[in-house]
Amino acid sequence: PPKFQPYRTGFHFQPPRNWINGFAGPMVYKGIYHLFYQYNPKGSVWGNIVWAHATSKDLVNWELQPVALSAAEPNMDINGAWSGSATILPGGKPVILYTGVNSKNQQVQNVAVPKNTSDPYLIEWTKPPQNPIMSPTTQNQINSSSFRDPSTGWLGPDNIWRVVVGSKIGRRGVAILYKSKDFVNWVKDEKPLHSAHGDGMWECPAFYPVSVGNRNSVDTSKSSHDLNVKYVLKMSLDDIKHDYYTVGSYSYHTDVYTPNKGSIENGFSGLRYDYGKLYASKSFYDGEKNRRVLWGWVNESSSVDDDVKKGWSGVMAVPRRIWLDKSGKQLHINPVQEIAKLRVNPVNLRNHVLKPSSLLKVHNITAAQVWINIIADVEIAFEGLDLSKAEVLDPSWISKPQVLCNQNDSSVGGSLGPFGLRVLASRGMEEYTSVFFRVFKKYTKSNQHMVLMCSDQSRVELHTTFLI
Ligand code: FRU
Repeated sequence: PPKFQPYRTGFHFQPPRNWINGFAGPMVYKGIYHLFYQYNPKGSVWGNIVWAHATSKDLVNWELQPVALSAAEPNMDINGAWSGSATILPGGKPVILYTGVNSKNQQVQNVAVPKNTSDPYLIEWTKPPQNPIMSPTTQNQINSSSFRDPSTGWLGPDNIWRVVVGSKIGRRGVAILYKSKDFVNWVKDEKPLHSAHGDGMWECPAFYPVSVGNRNSVDTSKSSHDLNVKYVLKMSLDDIKHDYYTVGSYSYHTDVYTPNKGSIENGFSGLRYDYGKLYASKSFYDGEKNRRVLWGWVNESSSVDDDVKKGWSGVMAVPRRIWLDKSGKQLHINPVQEIAKLRVNPVNLRNHVLKPSSLLKVHNITAAQVWINIIADVEIAFEGLDLSKAEVLDPSWISKPQVLCNQNDSSVGGSLGPFGLRVLASRGMEEYTSVFFRVFKKYTKSNQHMVLMCSDQSRVELHTTFLI
């Protein structure tokens, strides 16, 4: 790749070169975090996909490891080792389920186990001869080009493991349910865990419990049926390249998942993890810190030509912690606290009064960094707002934040807002990305307030990126 790399990031994980997409099989094992990702060893466009591997002790500093799963076996994965997930089996043994594309170009699911479980870095992986362990057949009528991305397993009180695999039937997105006692022999359930008409292909489905009323996380490798939990079903919508989720209830007896009313938005299957760019994300139970950690792929918007020129494509979003909001209706998703380690050279600007329509320039962030990427991690607090001025929010808008943001971009005035930041601005303010807020009142007696946060990239022509 060329030496001048203005768009490479400093906070975010990226290998030195080439294409990356989904981040598969995250886990923590013997104190080491494992990051696997879809990688093209031969170039900066999608193709020749293998599972590349990196490890970290703190989710911030990453060390590259050799490729974990290559595309090698005709009946398993010779045409690609695609996405999948890790599960920790009893006794702390990690196992990976992943999609392989076989010599007939069919998508099948395979299992892989570490060669040496005493190695915390899990460098070498074996593909047992029982593979593939799930295949499309004329009997099960699964479409062999829409059958991929097995989830992390969850254990029932009946000691049976369940996973979902992404699929579609016509325009209906489907999470096919499979069950197993030993993680090798799998039986497809008669009915899917869930499906939704109009979504198209569900890639990278995930299903996990979240604790009600606190931020604790729940181990998917232990049955959670007697805990006070709700369940999250997340799917990556291939057609629109966004990750959506619903919160709902689930019964191990019937294996039926029912999304809560109100967690469905716009006909798509739920709310978004992120209203910027985040796709094919995965989360895992981090028993070391009693939290659920999410990471995902920032599928950039640069063109294929630009990717070839720059010699790489794709970035990993910073790891985030997930927990259920007090309302029980949506998730909180915040960067993990370890990210603070990356903060150096603070620039403080305190006690400034913002006048209407004024701009306040924050100096000293970029000056010394002409040849490397420019990074600003911003913490901001606004005080002294006259909350009595807040507009009443039409209740039908509550679950449609991105529509509200799009209809009222940063140039549209309101009663309390917009106020916020302009980042990545050109000198003459011809271009900038604004991150802005509006405060609303809920239409209830308590007059509870809500803050809408938007990011408006409509004034960006340059290849600038704004990442979370
Ligand atoms: C998600 C995805 C998966 C697939 C993999 C192929 O981005 O399309 O569905 O397994 O990438 O690289």
